[in-house]
Amino acid sequence: MKKQTFEKFKQLVYQKSGITLGPQKVALVTSRVSKRMRALNITDHDAYLRFVIEDKTSGELVHLLDSISTNVTSFYREPAHYDFLAHLIQKWDVAKQAKFRIWCAASSSGEEPYCLAMTTLEALGGPHQDFRILATDISTKVLDAAQKGEYAASKLEPVPAAMRQKYFTASGSGANATYTAKEALKRIVSFNRLNLSVTPFPMKGPLDVVFCRNVMIYFDNAVRTRLLHEIVRLLKPGGYLMIGHSDSLVGIKTPLKTIQPAVFQKI
Ligand SMILES: C[S@@+](CC[C@H](N)C(=O)[O-])C[C@H]1O[C@@H](n2cnc3c(N)ncnc32)[C@H](O)[C@@H]1O
Repeated sequence: MKKQTFEKFKQLVYQKSGITLGPQKVALVTSRVSKRMRALNITDHDAYLRFVIEDKTSGELVHLLDSISTNVTSFYREPAHYDFLAHLIQKWDVAKQAKFRIWCAASSSGEEPYCLAMTTLEALGGPHQDFRILATDISTKVLDAAQKGEYAASKLEPVPAAMRQKYFTASGSGANATYTAKEALKRIVSFNRLNLSVTPFPMKGPLDVVFCRNVMIYFDNAVRTRLLHEIVRLLKPGGYLMIGHSDSLVGIKTPLKTIQPAVFQKI
């Protein structure tokens, strides 16, 4: 891809998603965009860029963002957060809290919100009448996968066998099995498309906990600042924000106090 064309893709991606594509991303963008162009039978990168911009439905823009975003995730990634959450939920339950709201921002293919669901169901000893997890992402591709909730056996490896049996239905066996999230999980998680770079967000809050992990690394300070101010607005006083261990709040002023690495509380 020509440098000039890359710059135009970079600008468009930043404007539409807040994702900053550094110069080290030229090869990645070229290969992902080229794959999409082959599917559309378009041979020139500039022609594809025009096609994206001129598509009034924004459908192709969604495809472009889908192909550019990095969706790496896994069950029980950065597990200390789930232990922390289990204790919190138990504490709030003992204190007779009646309503629980968790937002999983940038939920990718669903592993993270389903882990949140398993953690809370275990912490509460079963279903709760007013417990909801909102899971959002910019990518329609990962949201579709998350809603289906079907995972290859290799993906389920971090999930203890007893939990796998309790919360997933297996079809096939051994390494070829597919595991589908049971209704007990799906019932409490709702998936929606939400672009974290476009504020204000439509939710009202107040939220008890926000998981916003491993997405801020793709944003510059301006986008991160807007996002954090919205998270703070939505959190209840005393609510918690979990970020990825490679994300950082350094240089951004917020009324959040550090509780432990990558865990913050609204004061
Ligand atoms: C590396 S994954 C992280 C998934 C999960 N939170 C975790 O920690 O395992 C990053 C996710 O952020 C999403 N994403 C990137 N830019 C976004 C934006 N502007 N708004 C919402 N989601 C975005 C991507 O589609 C991707 O699914």
